Amino acid sequence: MANNLIIKNISTLYTPEKGKIGVIKEYDNVNIIITDGLIEAISEIEIDVNALKLENYEILDAEGLAVLPGFVDSHAHPIFAKTREVEFEMRNMGKSYLEIAESGGGIMNSVRKLREMDEESLLVKSEEIINSFLEFGTTTLEAKSGYGLTLEDELKMLKVIKKLDESSPIDLVPTFLGAHGIPAEFKEDREQYIELVINEMIPEVAKQGLAEACDIFIEKNYYTIEEGRRILSVAQKHGLEVKIHADQLTCNGGSELAAELKALSADHLEYISDKAIDKMIENNVVFNFLPGATYFVGIDDYPPARKIIEKGGIYALATDFNPGTCFVSSIPLIMNVAAIKMHMTAEELLWASTMGGAMALKREKLIGSVEKGKKADMLLVDIDNIQQLPYSLGVNLVKKVIKNGLIVK
Ligand code: NIG
Ligand code: FE
Repeated sequence: MANNLIIKNISTLYTPEKGKIGVIKEYDNVNIIITDGLIEAISEIEIDVNALKLENYEILDAEGLAVLPGFVDSHAHPIFAKTREVEFEMRNMGKSYLEIAESGGGIMNSVRKLREMDEESLLVKSEEIINSFLEFGTTTLEAKSGYGLTLEDELKMLKVIKKLDESSPIDLVPTFLGAHGIPAEFKEDREQYIELVINEMIPEVAKQGLAEACDIFIEKNYYTIEEGRRILSVAQKHGLEVKIHADQLTCNGGSELAAELKALSADHLEYISDKAIDKMIENNVVFNFLPGATYFVGIDDYPPARKIIEKGGIYALATDFNPGTCFVSSIPLIMNVAAIKMHMTAEELLWASTMGGAMALKREKLIGSVEKGKKADMLLVDIDNIQQLPYSLGVNLVKKVIKNGLIVK
């Protein structure tokens, strides 16, 4: 019985069309047949009861709800010890993100708190957070380290991610972000910290198989392009994919480096240059939009999504969930921000948060669409059309979540 499911009475299935950036296909009146957690068929005909040995299948009556692929959130920092609402208010009262960071807040605030928390407590805390993603329809979630910044504390975060991946219905995709900032104890000798990342952290993380990719925060007061090139090249030599937090607060060329290194994605991109857009497209790097962070930090410049889409870029939409710059675990809520601030259509938004996210994580053969042979990760959603997704601000339209063919919400 396990992971064998037939979904009937679906109003419409909306899913990315194979091989077409930004295109969603609609199927009316289909049944979806799931065998061993994989999509076996999307059938327009009545199910042949005898042929399928129906006693081996659970039947789910969708009662006229629509079906979507599970959301793939390809950029998040869900493992941390404490929220940072005090900084949120400081920003709203006029302080900037960089000013707060310079006075000891920001990433370093989270680093101090995380180092004090033991692995078991961190696991319990993170489990609650992960469940909130599932509630809003995320079935695959990227999870970054980057609040430890010592070998031991980075490993602690990555081990928590691994345990949660095993114990919770959501698939977690781990990313090593040891170059998230320069820890206070290395402030006078950043080179020494970079060497620690290169010579100890990356080799150990790769050896233990605790990350699929290596990320870096390229930004004024954080890491330079040259440092990024050094660190990410070492990561590639250890078999890790690479990605970059690029052009978030200043135009710093991080996205051009992503193109040069053929990264999976460059993320944020508020201040990306035209030249970098072209280079990323040439090198098939995914433009990962995180407008929730732009909104939450109170910046008025959003990534130039229309320009990127019209030029033919591959794009994704993710939450960037983290305690500092975006405390939002709902993809539909981020769709609303992207619709209003980046002028994206519902079709583009749904594609970006399913297939786009899968491509940003290099999992497009497994997830990102409802297609024969893919994982049965899907949502039953109370919508009459996809325009209602970004439109329904703050309403959870996701009624049921199916992960690997099991009903988990
Ligand atoms: O994606 N930009 C760098 N990293 C995070 C912020 C992390 C934090 O403030 O804790 C981001 O916005
Ligand atoms: Fe981020």
